[in-house]
Amino acid sequence: MTYRIAVIPGDGIGPETVAVAVEVMGAAGVEFEDVRFDIGADRFARDGHVLDNKDVLRLRECDAILKGPIGPAITDRTIPSGTVERGIILRLRTELDLYVSVRPFVGASSNFVVIRENSEGAYAGEGGFLRRGTSAEVATQGSVNTRLGVERCIRHAFAVAASRPRRVLALVHKKNVLTYAGDLWQRTFDEISPEFPDVSTEYYHVDAACIHLVEDAARFDVIVTDNLFGDILTDLAGAVTGGVGFAGTANLNPERAFPSMFEPVHGSAHDIVGTDRVNPSSQLLSTAMMLEFLGEIEAGATIRKALTVTIDAGTAPNRIGPEVLDLLRSTAVL
Ligand code: IPM
Ligand code: MN
Repeated sequence: MTYRIAVIPGDGIGPETVAVAVEVMGAAGVEFEDVRFDIGADRFARDGHVLDNKDVLRLRECDAILKGPIGPAITDRTIPSGTVERGIILRLRTELDLYVSVRPFVGASSNFVVIRENSEGAYAGEGGFLRRGTSAEVATQGSVNTRLGVERCIRHAFAVAASRPRRVLALVHKKNVLTYAGDLWQRTFDEISPEFPDVSTEYYHVDAACIHLVEDAARFDVIVTDNLFGDILTDLAGAVTGGVGFAGTANLNPERAFPSMFEPVHGSAHDIVGTDRVNPSSQLLSTAMMLEFLGEIEAGATIRKALTVTIDAGTAPNRIGPEVLDLLRSTAVL
């Protein structure tokens, strides 16, 4: 089977990490058509376009999307904050209905996965200004939680938990303060729980979950949480399990009505472009997740194994170049 893979190199270090991913995917024996997309802050700076309808239509024709990090340099003041984030990343997550974000973390003694609601919450874009720029200015930014959105995310999380050896699912929220949204999340969680009798359940407030992640991440198996908590928790989770450079993401439409999108957890890191500090591991893990989602279990495992072997060999793949690729190939799994 030849897959149509939408390849978005993105900005900053993206073209470097994506080039490694594409090369390694080929080396792992996957047959694919590399459908290129020029999407990101660089393109916006060039022609003022974030994402055209044409881009979305072309993306929809692909089997999966392999995306590099997208975003301007933090020092770049020419692109208004949020332009590419909302105009590209969030638009794709909502328009392709990629309603769960799956972020697995494997540390020295921990092994857990965060299921983040990926289409609503504080990311929904609800809110606005009143009297902007005056001393009486008001800015609101609401969190939108629909029964449908919460339920489908929680059900997916239960299914993930049921497939793992420990089978423990923790709901993380702040229901002691966010009493409306928290109530909806907890009620929905409790209602779905009986469908998965083998999965035991827990609840943590998000602040307490942060302490546990730092002090004892091994207690977690699967975490399910809302969009903004999930964003923050997954950066923390990355930091305590070896760095976000080692964490991949699957943005899934589990029903496969649209292509799912696979991207690194980290950003575009313009400050290290072209240096030996660029680490393609997160991009490679996302690629492995993509292949596994497509049913290419063996190719996914090959990439994971090659990465593990590379890291175990003491050569953390923190530089992109012939050395890493040679090492990946010489592991005998490629
Ligand atoms: C992530 C990123 C994005 C998010 C940004 C770039 C819009 O931080 O994937 O975690 O906030 O979801
Ligand atoms: Mn983030």
